[in-house]
Amino acid sequence: MGKTSTVSSWLCCPCRCLFCGLLSCIFSVVATILVIAGVVVLALYLLFRPHLIQATIASADLADFTLTPSTWILRYNLSVALSVRNPNSRIAIHYQSVVAEAYYQGQSFARADHPDFYQDTGETTVVPLAFAGDHPLEGGVAAAGFRKEAIDHASFSVDIKLSAKMKLKVWAFRVPGPKPKVDCPLMLHRRNASASAPAGDGQPEFHPIECRVWF
Ligand SMILES: *[C@@H]1O[C@H](CO)[C@@H](O)[C@H](O)[C@H]1NC(C)=O
Ligand SMILES: *[C@@H]1O[C@H](CO)[C@@H](O)[C@H](O)[C@H]1NC(C)=O
Repeated sequence: MGKTSTVSSWLCCPCRCLFCGLLSCIFSVVATILVIAGVVVLALYLLFRPHLIQATIASADLADFTLTPSTWILRYNLSVALSVRNPNSRIAIHYQSVVAEAYYQGQSFARADHPDFYQDTGETTVVPLAFAGDHPLEGGVAAAGFRKEAIDHASFSVDIKLSAKMKLKVWAFRVPGPKPKVDCPLMLHRRNASASAPAGDGQPEFHPIECRVWF
């Protein structure tokens, strides 16, 4: 206790208050707990070397993306395959409350829930996400942006965002993990219905897109 009592008396000295004895006691206990917690966290970190999950849009299909002229109702049919990799060699992950949202012009227009899933160490899971329906687009600026993208090359800048809760499994222990956020900015070419028969020609090939992941 030599070190911590020095720390606590140093912390306590300037105050010279009535309850100095009690305060110094509280300080030394808190300081000791903080130091032990810090050492434990550092040891766990060094032992398990946690890595961020990696997320990639492996494929995407924009079958429909049209805007009704006067009402600005956006009709959409979008399916994407989100590939999620757990690069950790000692941490398995249980994903819960997985929710994906699709944004256009900064407006959320569709939402898709995905069932919970489990991912072992080093595993890659493909999460299929399907968005179909219609949603009003708000504001003339968004509608003008849509028309511009439609005229330019029928490619639309759609953003897919995903959030989830994580439970981590380390050996036999299950601990709550951080809440990852995934952001995938996409430029999607709308499928041309009349040219759909020869699938190879005309449709540009989709290159996988890395998503941004943070906690
Ligand atoms: C969306 O597109 C897919 C693939 O073309 C099709 O199978 C599905 O029926 C469409 N869904 C709706 C709601 O239009
Ligand atoms: C689809 O492609 C065909 C020819 O491949 C073209 O004539 C037609 O205008 C295209 N339709 C749209 C909506 O781009």
